[in-house]
Amino acid sequence: MDALTICVVGASGHLARTKIFPALFALYCQGYLPDNFRVVGYARSSLSDEEFRKRVEEKLTCRYTPDAQCEDRMREFLDRCRYCRGQYDSAEDFRSMTAACSESNEGNLGNLVVYLAVPPHVFTMAARAMGEAGITSRDADDGWTRVVIEKPFGHDRASSDQLTRDMAEVLSEEQVYRIDHYLGKEVIQNLLVLRFANLIFEPIWNRHYIHNVEITWKEDLTIEGRGGYFDESGIIRDVMQNHLLQILALIGMEPPPHLEADHVQNAKVNALVSVPPPTIDDVVTGQYTGTTEGKREIPGYREDPSVPGDSVTPTYAAVALRIDNTRWDGVPFLVRAGKGLDGRMTEIRIRFREIPGAMFDQRDEAPEPNELVIRVQPDAAIYFNITNKVPGVGMKLEQRMLDLQYKLAFDEKIPDAYEDLLLDVLRGDKSLFIRSDELAAAWDIFTPLLRELDGAGTAPHAYEFGARGPAEADALAARHGVTWS
Ligand code: BG6
Repeated sequence: MDALTICVVGASGHLARTKIFPALFALYCQGYLPDNFRVVGYARSSLSDEEFRKRVEEKLTCRYTPDAQCEDRMREFLDRCRYCRGQYDSAEDFRSMTAACSESNEGNLGNLVVYLAVPPHVFTMAARAMGEAGITSRDADDGWTRVVIEKPFGHDRASSDQLTRDMAEVLSEEQVYRIDHYLGKEVIQNLLVLRFANLIFEPIWNRHYIHNVEITWKEDLTIEGRGGYFDESGIIRDVMQNHLLQILALIGMEPPPHLEADHVQNAKVNALVSVPPPTIDDVVTGQYTGTTEGKREIPGYREDPSVPGDSVTPTYAAVALRIDNTRWDGVPFLVRAGKGLDGRMTEIRIRFREIPGAMFDQRDEAPEPNELVIRVQPDAAIYFNITNKVPGVGMKLEQRMLDLQYKLAFDEKIPDAYEDLLLDVLRGDKSLFIRSDELAAAWDIFTPLLRELDGAGTAPHAYEFGARGPAEADALAARHGVTWS
């Protein structure tokens, strides 16, 4: 197998330490990395190889190796890790990094993945420096170069386009891997399979059978010092424009002809361009306030030291979206996301229409509409609510679940999203990555609303930390004939 170098730029950051290195170690333990791979941490601070290895080691876990072997595997992996100090905008420093790597491998750098685990304003300068150093345009015989970046990709359509253009000066679209880590999650990857590898769903997956779709994302944490980034973004940019729109696209898209990246991405783009931008009447925003839990004081969003005291940034949003095409005309897609809520959960609910006709009208309990629930996290599950006759004399109807709990149904471990995504980068499979036109289509949906919300500067509705979110969101759902689950 060809030699492989994985260079993580921003090696001392949170993303690198908590996600990227552990995912690489997991791939190593499962035998997915070639024999001659090496990992290079690249950052501005001065660190020895040994200090760097120690930092990497802190977050490695033994999920795939029995305890006894774990230490050996860690040692072997860490031996392949080295550190390289460099400025993000310095072609010379990037050149020295690749020269050092080649030197230690008989002059051969091999295939190269550069993971830009740095804030987005660094993407372009690092890409240009790599371009100048000749890293991005190597001869195909010397190996490929792929560059991984992660959101935020701009803060609206125009700034996102600018970033895409700037990166395109040095990197072809083929070389750029835009991560949305939700696409690497097991249950999200299963959406394609659930929808298209089970004959029963496709005939009913439309406006004739589906009343509405609910996509919920919630977290029960405070902002905890991350206000610097979050307060500039707000929940719509942070979670909805990317993770939740990707889910909506996978639920709403037409079947792609094949599973190749372009086919899947085309299908998603077609779904996204059919979503009209929501107006201010289609949204309810909220911001959590403080509370006390026993003796513990939980600060409200604005009380967090990293957040301005007069911030009007939403930590919650509920939005009613539509997909204006023949399949979905008239079906509301109700999407909500919030921090500081009553639990941590990501879930998709497909609610079917009421049973037509009058057959059961005389019963005390009319049949409830069926519901297909896909729980992404925690405790991955898929269940279908069906109406059943309660055993016993007489005819009493009640809903029960046909329940697929991943934990019970599968012995296999659920990988971390980054493991799958990094393996796809190595394999050159882009079906779980965001293509530039897909990114543009996603921004087109939210840019007008964001402009209006940013411009208005009005305070979002207050909700107490640990609550369900602002009550006004219920009224939004009710306007679409929906009671939130
Ligand atoms: C990130 C957001 O993209 O996703 C965070 O920036 C959020 O605000 C995180 O907490 C949630 O990811 P997960 O995988 O924990 O649901």
